[in-house]
Formats: sequence, C-alpha cells, structure tokens
Amino acid sequence: HSSALSVTVNGRRHQVTIDNRTSLLDLLRERLALPGTKKGCDQGACGACTVLLDGRRVNACLTLAVRCQDAEVTTIEGLASGGGSGDGELHPLQQAFIEQDAFQCGYCTPGQIVSGVGCIREGHTGSRAEIREWMSGNLCRCGCYVKIVNAVAQVAR
Ligand code: FES
Repeated sequence: HSSALSVTVNGRRHQVTIDNRTSLLDLLRERLALPGTKKGCDQGACGACTVLLDGRRVNACLTLAVRCQDAEVTTIEGLASGGGSGDGELHPLQQAFIEQDAFQCGYCTPGQIVSGVGCIREGHTGSRAEIREWMSGNLCRCGCYVKIVNAVAQVAR
C-alpha cells in the first residue's frame, strides 16, 4: 500500500506518495535528496540518522515516514541559516565541532550534531557526565567522545 504524505522538512513543504513501509530516513535520503542524514545500522542502534521531528530527537531509521504527516522535520541540512543553500552561517554547534576538532571520519557527525542541538534545547547539559548520558544514543566508532562533549559543552555555556 502507498500513502500521500505532506511533510515539512527544513522549512520546505513536500508532498509525496510513498510506500507505507518507507522509513523517514529513506524518504529523506532517497526521495527528498537530503543525504546529510546518515544510515549506519538502520536498526536504531547507532544514532547516525538522528533528526528532529517536531523538535524532538528521533532515529529516522525507526520512524515510518507515514507517521510524519503534517510534521516538521529538521535535518543537518536545515541547521545552518540560509535554508540549506550553502550560503548561510553555520549553526553554533557546527562551528563548535570544527573548533573542537570533534570528528575523525565524520560519518556519525550529522547525527551527533543534530542530537547535540536536541540535547542543548532539552537542557541536559549541566555537566559533562549529563551530556555524555543524553548523547549516549549516538555512537562514534573513531572514539571522539571527549571532543564531542567539548563541543556541546562549549555551546551550552
Ligand atoms: Fe538509525 Fe543507526 S541508522 S540508529
């Protein structure tokens, strides 16, 4: 079965017809040409696919796209000003990741940054341990956790 879906992504309204089994992750990457959100495990274990759904962090691989009717989704492409045009200013947390050198291979980075934005908005930044706890759904195989926490703490200050 397929469904008509209307969803706003990074401020832009999209109307698409999708197979009901389509994940939000595949919708973003394959239908809406937004490959910034990464597919790591595709089963909810790594956090590489983290996006904001109506302001809350979700794993896009575990979220059915049909559940996003009339929702607002923010991906890594939508964090900088300029609506993903490439001309805008980086989000403060994107800038902080650069300043703190908070990545190696970079594959987990979009999910880390979106999750970090959620973590800061939720106010789970009282201590390094608290940041680590509330970022624990985002794995980094390169082991950059110290610097990732540095970046989140820098913006939360
Ligand atoms: Fe979604 Fe790993 S790709 S949690």
